[in-house]
Amino acid sequence: MGVAIEAYGLRKRFISYERVGFLKRRRVTIEALRGVSFRVGWGEVYGLLGPNGAGKTTTVKILATLLIPDGGYALVNGYDTVKQPQAVRRSIGLVLYPDKGFYSRLSGYENLVYFGRLYGLDKRTAQARARELLEIVGLREAMDRPYEEYSLGMRARLAIARALMHDPPILILDEPTIGLDPLSAREVRELVRKLSKEGKAVLFTSHNLWEVEEVCDRVGIINNGSMVIEGSPRDIKDMLGLKYVVEVEVLVNGHVEVLREETLTPVHTLRKLINEAEARGLNVIRVRINEPSLEEVFVRVVRSEGR
Ligand SMILES: Nc1ncnc2c1ncn2[C@@H]1O[C@H](COP(=O)(O)OP(=O)(O)O)[C@@H](O)[C@H]1O
Ligand SMILES: [Mg+2]
Repeated sequence: MGVAIEAYGLRKRFISYERVGFLKRRRVTIEALRGVSFRVGWGEVYGLLGPNGAGKTTTVKILATLLIPDGGYALVNGYDTVKQPQAVRRSIGLVLYPDKGFYSRLSGYENLVYFGRLYGLDKRTAQARARELLEIVGLREAMDRPYEEYSLGMRARLAIARALMHDPPILILDEPTIGLDPLSAREVRELVRKLSKEGKAVLFTSHNLWEVEEVCDRVGIINNGSMVIEGSPRDIKDMLGLKYVVEVEVLVNGHVEVLREETLTPVHTLRKLINEAEARGLNVIRVRINEPSLEEVFVRVVRSEGR
């Protein structure tokens, strides 16, 4: 079945005009993408991570056939985004501007049926699909309420449902949790995981590290138009030699003390600390391994780029 998404050396340059002085404007070239490559497998959630202006939306737009790259190419579901844009569009569900296009007076259900018809589904199929998706995204109870009454979190989930109406194998989400409260953001992440378990490939962009860590199998960090580092959240931490913190809580004369050690080999360190505690006749109450956060990774790789 191949790979869901493959990007090879994507380049994109924008021409912009900068004000210099009162009337003068100067032409400036912005290198939005400087050769970005990555792959997303079936059933995988891939997090494209980077600070504002890194090139995430530009990458998403190229994959979604909305922008043509100046260099490199991308295959989506095996189709070339420039040469076979129709087939690419049929293969993806895209959430770029979650709030755009919905009719505020129509219910969530009516909106979905409307978009299903727009995608070319017949009425019965659109209705059945809308019901099924409202169930999946957790909006079944609210399906008959008008869109304007939906919270931001509900709107975000409805946007994902809309993107899935034509049953695409690949889902592309550009910062789907931006502006959401923590609980709604979590619901979106749980939904993404659920969809990936059903075999969909998901590309998910974010500037929020811990969020990507929670939901993504693999992460690529881009900065200033280049891929800086790639791997599973765990791999990335290992590559950078970030340390785990192992904590063992023990009871010493009736009060709690914490034995703490930073390490690259947490399981080994945990055993050692427990053995030491027991050799001293102390009662171990609780143990904890704190993983290094991706936040740290971010600070390191992005800073070292010298932006
Ligand atoms: N249409 C455009 N015209 C000019 N510059 C653009 C345009 N779109 C994006 N850019 C610039 O390209 C760079 C990457 O933008 P973008 O892909 O939107 O980043 P991100 O989504 O990671 O925040 C930024 O410097 C941005 O200002
Ligand atoms: Mg963006």
